[in-house]
Amino acid sequence: MDTHSPSQAWPQERDLVQQLESIHDIVRARYPTVDRVAFALYDQDTELLKTFVSSNSDDVALRGHEAPLREVPSLLELARSGGHRVVDDIPGTFRTGSLHTEWLKARGYLSSYTTPIFDGQALAGFLFYDSKQAAAFTAEVCGFLDDFSRIIAKLYLLQRQVVEGIIATVHVAVGLAGMRDIETREHLHRMAHYSKLIARHLMVSHDLSDEFVEYMLLFAPLHDIGKVGVPDSILLKPGSLSPQEWDVMKNHVRIGMDIIDQICDEMSLADSLSSRMMRNIVGQHHERCDGTGYPRGLHGDEISLEARIVAVADMFDALCTHRPYKPAWPMDRVTAELRSEAALGRLDAECVDALLSNLDELLDIQQRFADPSQLNS
Ligand code: C2E
Ligand code: SIN
Ligand code: SIN
Ligand code: FE
Ligand code: FE
Repeated sequence: MDTHSPSQAWPQERDLVQQLESIHDIVRARYPTVDRVAFALYDQDTELLKTFVSSNSDDVALRGHEAPLREVPSLLELARSGGHRVVDDIPGTFRTGSLHTEWLKARGYLSSYTTPIFDGQALAGFLFYDSKQAAAFTAEVCGFLDDFSRIIAKLYLLQRQVVEGIIATVHVAVGLAGMRDIETREHLHRMAHYSKLIARHLMVSHDLSDEFVEYMLLFAPLHDIGKVGVPDSILLKPGSLSPQEWDVMKNHVRIGMDIIDQICDEMSLADSLSSRMMRNIVGQHHERCDGTGYPRGLHGDEISLEARIVAVADMFDALCTHRPYKPAWPMDRVTAELRSEAALGRLDAECVDALLSNLDELLDIQQRFADPSQLNS
């Protein structure tokens, strides 16, 4: 999988939830038996159905849930035919079901109406309407819901175009950093995946959205974008930096903030989750929980979670790999250093733990994105 595939376009999940809620209110006013409206997105690349967003706030259990479409034959059939499906008796129809159907059964939903959503020819997802009453979806109700399905599909596709614009811009920006050989492409890929790994393991404890996790993958490689403004004589210096050189180096955070502000202005991303995460990752990735970081000396929770995640991923990768100013460290020394930084209250201990407790995934990322130069040395 390409780390930065544009098909990983995630809509602003919160907006989508709000829109589903207000649409659900309208539907319910006319047909009170429609108890739930939910939307599952389809990812072309991975062929996974992901992110159940719904009008019920109690769907947390279904967040982060992914299911291969091919393992849900009934939905695969709908995607092929473009047809809609009415289920009058959920417990009778789905004897052994997916997580989604089990969840519906456990909450007493008895009937459902399902519609595939298309972006042109391509499947974009499914809309589920569910009722706690059996056989609630008569021809009349379904006809009424079809209009709403079209509106929800339009809203979703519009948002996805905005996100695709952000992704394209971020790729240009990351390419800019890559071009100067400041960071290898592999370092950027590893950063992205370590950051996503940490976020994924914090999803439950921090109530994170799928969107947040995907944005970690997308935005973590931006963290050092400001190094484009640091001269090579400092960036590539083999030894340690003089105090003056260090001041110039630390300024990569401010330069990065200016670049991100320009990106966000240009794309009119006033205060969206994406712009907040980009700004926080670039502006706070050298802050430390004990207040000893830079540029602002923020403490603990003053530092955003996304920046605390990137700080751990960044230090981990810097220690594991060769840098102009340091050799690559062996894994046990890296692990000890990260644990010590966490114990000293500098790195977020939970983030360090999420990374180091998942050694299999971590080694897999290292293998997939090994530096060509490090293989030879
Ligand atoms: P970088 O090489 O990408 O390193 C990222 C971060 O990894 C560092 O941020 C630091 O938090 C962590 N790190 C690197 N080496 C060590 C280490 O030996 N122990 C621990 N605990 N952490 C380590 P930091 O320190 O803010 O540095 C930012 C950037 O400044 C570095 O990015 C690198 O480009 C440059 N830099 C830092 N120290 C030196 C140096 O001694 N010589 C040169 N030429 N550049 C340096
Ligand atoms: C699902 O779990 O993806 C939905 C199953 C279904 O409604 O057919
Ligand atoms: C989210 O929006 O899902 C997470 C927000 C945050 O933790 O910063
Ligand atoms: Fe940095
Ligand atoms: Fe870095």
